Amino acid sequence: MAPWWEGAVLYQIYPRSFQDSNGDGIGDLAGIVRRLDHLAWLGVDALWLNPTYPSADADWGYDVVDYTDVHPDLGTLTDLDRLIAEASARGIRILLDLVPGHTSDRHPWFRTRRDWYTWVAGAESPNDWLCGSAASAWTHDPTCGRSYLHTFRPEQPDLNWWSEEVREEFDRILAYWFARGVAGFRIDAAARVVKSRDLAAPAAGPWLRPPPDLAEVHAVLRRWRNVAERYGDRLLLGQTWIEDAGGLSAFFGENDELHIVHPFALSVSQLYALVLHEIVGSVEASLQGRGSAAWQASSHDVIRFPTRWGAGDERRTRAALMLLLGLRGTVILYYGDEIGMSQTNVPARRARDHWGRDGCRTPMQWADVPGGGFTDPDVEPWLPLGDLRVNVESQRDDPASTLSLCRDLIALRRQLPELATGCYEPIKAPPGVWACRRGERVVVVANLSGAATRLTGVEGTVRLATERARDGEIVKGALRLEPWEAVVVAD
Ligand code: NOJ
Ligand code: CA
Repeated sequence: MAPWWEGAVLYQIYPRSFQDSNGDGIGDLAGIVRRLDHLAWLGVDALWLNPTYPSADADWGYDVVDYTDVHPDLGTLTDLDRLIAEASARGIRILLDLVPGHTSDRHPWFRTRRDWYTWVAGAESPNDWLCGSAASAWTHDPTCGRSYLHTFRPEQPDLNWWSEEVREEFDRILAYWFARGVAGFRIDAAARVVKSRDLAAPAAGPWLRPPPDLAEVHAVLRRWRNVAERYGDRLLLGQTWIEDAGGLSAFFGENDELHIVHPFALSVSQLYALVLHEIVGSVEASLQGRGSAAWQASSHDVIRFPTRWGAGDERRTRAALMLLLGLRGTVILYYGDEIGMSQTNVPARRARDHWGRDGCRTPMQWADVPGGGFTDPDVEPWLPLGDLRVNVESQRDDPASTLSLCRDLIALRRQLPELATGCYEPIKAPPGVWACRRGERVVVVANLSGAATRLTGVEGTVRLATERARDGEIVKGALRLEPWEAVVVAD
């Protein structure tokens, strides 16, 4: 039997921004429980929660202070257990975010287990490796006179994965969560968790980050897979980056490493048919027929796709959703994608993130009421609310809405398994048109241009169209598409 994640739709939740249950303006785990019926109705297979651990919040959860507990703003371990149980009762699995590359500098280990981090003598950078803010990846610690390595902020010292003790500790952390019923992990920066020991090695990638030691990365991935195997059908979905695309299939090992790779390219690309075919084609080629990739257009790190791709034009958002949910492999929807939620302009005085990513992290828009249905009407949410005219309540019962389209697309992936898992084969199409065959009998076409167009050689029935009046239309050879119209056709 195929594993549950094949062709699955995952739903990413930024927990602070999904649903507040206790009126403090911060989303929490009990709030997610309250919204599970929405997610079950939408039809997603699993939720990936951004980090839920206690954190010093220098990077909002990605600077972990304790890997086996829950951030007090989000609730308690009991709330998490309840979320796992309630989700499971609705057929939904819970994935946590594993952050193995670095801890918070407030994590007790940073004081008590100094050798679990990477140090060099003195205050000088030993090389040209850069961290996230394009400064040196080394920070001097005056208390010991040495400098430590950090791929991201100075508040996020990198763990030293050459340490056997670190590896054993993470084996325990994985096992701990698996035993609690967690269905798997999205693994932060999985493809570069072990850094080169050779400090003279050149910095990696366009951002000149600390270079990984790939042989050791694979050894660590195998170790995690071993732990996962002990618990059955647990998913390891590892974040891999654009520059890793050359060799994505390597991260599956001999079917003993990651289950799914998660390249980043679609999340930062433009909505041009040619560019998208290049991205999807190169990822597919790099998979070499093995396993699958996770596709995602919005996330907590990038500009939401209805803004990046849609410029506020709902037709574009709808075409993009159809294209995305018409891809082979795993599709990850970011909370709000289902209603076409766009980027929010967050004024500087309300900014919370050092890298300006607040605009994609604002509260879920449940209803056009004070508080947005996210928090109490008189409470100021931790980040400002966006354009509440775009909301779940107003779209839910409207068969022509983006939310209905998204739900129907998810359902169609089940009805037409080719759509979820069938081979991807690009079709020659007029400029600006995304067209591909999926398996033997399904064709996905999206007109990503402002001009009407025509594609020949398509036969079958329109199973779903962004212009819903066309659902069920018979296509005999020539398919006409208005600007930004998309369809799934099956014979
Ligand atoms: C990647 C995460 O997606 C991002 O949000 C975070 O800031 C960095 N890793 C550092 O953990
Ligand atoms: Ca709360």
